[in-house]
Amino acid sequence: MILRLAVPGDAALLARWDEKSHVKWCTGHDPDQLLPEDEREDWAGQIARDVDWLDILIGEAGGRAIGVVQIIDPHMEESHYWGDCAPNQRAIDIWIGEEADLGRGHGTQMMKLAIARCFAGPAVTNILIDPLVINTAAIRFYRRLGFVDVGERRFGEDDCLVMALPRAVWQP
Ligand SMILES: CC(C)(COP(=O)(O)OP(=O)(O)OC[C@H]1O[C@@H](n2cnc3c(N)ncnc32)[C@H](O)[C@@H]1OP(=O)(O)O)[C@@H](O)C(=O)NCCC(=O)NCCS
Repeated sequence: MILRLAVPGDAALLARWDEKSHVKWCTGHDPDQLLPEDEREDWAGQIARDVDWLDILIGEAGGRAIGVVQIIDPHMEESHYWGDCAPNQRAIDIWIGEEADLGRGHGTQMMKLAIARCFAGPAVTNILIDPLVINTAAIRFYRRLGFVDVGERRFGEDDCLVMALPRAVWQP
């Protein structure tokens, strides 16, 4: 497994994955309905951006794209999704694209690479994630990787569990 930066040619694949039921479900969307037009990600635009606070990474195994990891700096991110946030942290989003690739260890490998990438910056003290409270499988997955519960928090219409991996807890 490698993580590589997304390129313009990945935009169509990312848009296709966004319509997968398991992806829509984990972001609080109706898994059985097409995403509302105004909530479709402009992947081509996002990939083309050159900002310090966002990395869009593709997990690739055997030369095949398996999933995506987004790493943001929640202090710098433009929408201030995380609200007032101390500097020197990172927040991660991850999803596997194809149903057949779920539950095969790819996500664990991608997260380990993503975590190492975050902490490669010596100033980074903490990594945040915010699974839906109902996403118990993902919560178990993150706990296995060392994340600890911070507490429940409502983001927009989503009830989430904020979890954190402080550098001191991380075991490379
Ligand atoms: C969460 C996710 C990235 C984990 O990657 P993965 O490759 O499936 O996970 P691994 O094979 O490395 O580890 C398996 C664990 O992942 C978790 N998991 C979460 N969603 C899962 C799913 N839909 N299918 C299988 N396992 C899942 C389980 O905890 C499982 O362990 P278990 O034996 O306790 O059930 C991936 O399952 C996924 O994309 N799920 C849907 C989207 C999502 O929920 N993303 C997280 C949003 S916060």
